[in-house]
Amino acid sequence: MVSIPGGMLTAQQLVKVSLVLVSLSTVCPLATSSTIEYYQPEQVHLSYGENVYEMVVTWTTYSDCDSVVEYGIGGFALKAQGETKKFTDGGSESRSMFIHRVKLSDLSPDAKYTYHCGSSLGWSGVFWFSTAPEDLSKWSPHLAIYGDMGNENAQSLARLQEEVQRNVYDAIIHVGDFAYDMDSDNARVGDEFMRQIQSVAAYLPYMTCPGNHEQTYNFSNYRARFSMPGDTEGLWYSFNMGPIHFIALTTEVYYNFNYGMKQLVKQFYWLEEDLKEATKLENRKQRPWIITYGHRPMYCSNDDYDDCRQHSTFVRKGIPFLKWFGLEDMFYKYGVDLSIWAHEHSYERLWPVYDYKVYNGSLNAPYQNPGATVHITTGSAGCSERTDPFIPIKPEWSAFRNSDYGYTKVKAWNETHLYLEQISDDKDGEVIDFIWIIKDKHEAFNSNQQFNGDKEFREVSLE
Ligand SMILES: [Fe+2]
Repeated sequence: MVSIPGGMLTAQQLVKVSLVLVSLSTVCPLATSSTIEYYQPEQVHLSYGENVYEMVVTWTTYSDCDSVVEYGIGGFALKAQGETKKFTDGGSESRSMFIHRVKLSDLSPDAKYTYHCGSSLGWSGVFWFSTAPEDLSKWSPHLAIYGDMGNENAQSLARLQEEVQRNVYDAIIHVGDFAYDMDSDNARVGDEFMRQIQSVAAYLPYMTCPGNHEQTYNFSNYRARFSMPGDTEGLWYSFNMGPIHFIALTTEVYYNFNYGMKQLVKQFYWLEEDLKEATKLENRKQRPWIITYGHRPMYCSNDDYDDCRQHSTFVRKGIPFLKWFGLEDMFYKYGVDLSIWAHEHSYERLWPVYDYKVYNGSLNAPYQNPGATVHITTGSAGCSERTDPFIPIKPEWSAFRNSDYGYTKVKAWNETHLYLEQISDDKDGEVIDFIWIIKDKHEAFNSNQQFNGDKEFREVSLE
């Protein structure tokens, strides 16, 4: 006999109750930890597809399910399906997750789309993004650019969240080093980081390149979690935004030979082809500004032992001893206007520089028709490793240095004027540095007449 509230059950009644319970359990299996399904989308972020009218929505679930985005202008009139790919982290737990990618193609220009993503088993919250105008030649894209932002001490993130959700930017570029590190704690740190950046990255294209903190398991967390254009899993690629041709590079191929040299060689020849194409007369007329970004800088004056403190930086002059595949000559040859770097947890603006010589446009207007690429290092968005100090004496090629937490804003106003400013988060959003790069012509530096002797165009030290 079994006692229940209000009376006792006979053996016959008990058998009946047991039969009912057994049949119920086959219809509704009791949820145990091993049977819980995780279909709720998280870590939602955007990136450009093959052009600015194509957006890729990427997100994560922990159980396998479809990849669907419902979207539209003022409602979910449209629906797109994509792919679901299982990603298994290389850590001891071999944690798995499912990465969902859906392309939204042929978007209308100058529109605000709302969307959510998921499947019939679970949907994300509602997000929105804005598209580029129809006449790309009249577009003045505005971007926030930084590197080295982690889970812990992501100091600039709150300011960026505020600005992004007020629609200040068209895109963000994160120049390597995420989460610290995405593979840590069996990739749980990566999950947490992607959750943190959702509040910006779900509203605009969050374009990336890998840094040294992504190198574990051959960059597998980086490759799996981001969806950059091209077919290199985001290790290098290029894309156009109005008057800018952006080129993303992986400086890590110069430093991680444990994965072989193949990637380094492939990237180098890809870059030359990309620059050849970008500098064809008709293309450069349409997109005169060529801006590269990669994680480890060619030059820096920080007080540490990083490679950028060496004279012959690997990225600048090529691999050790052989001096093959250096990038500085290539940038010079094709007239790269601006190179953006990170890795050093600080901000440093250089004079236009080539091979340690300063080629200012003139003494009074150094960035007007400069004779070499302008370099900016912006790696102080905020991470657990804090910021990096500088050596006391500023080298002659360095124009401005600051170790506040912050990030860089870039706006290409038109084909002749590009504006950059540095925001200090420590100083509550103050603009601590700005320059206008002004160019009447965009062309290879070594074909520039001024370089061959114009008095206004000189090597100068402004110390
Ligand atoms: Fe780094």
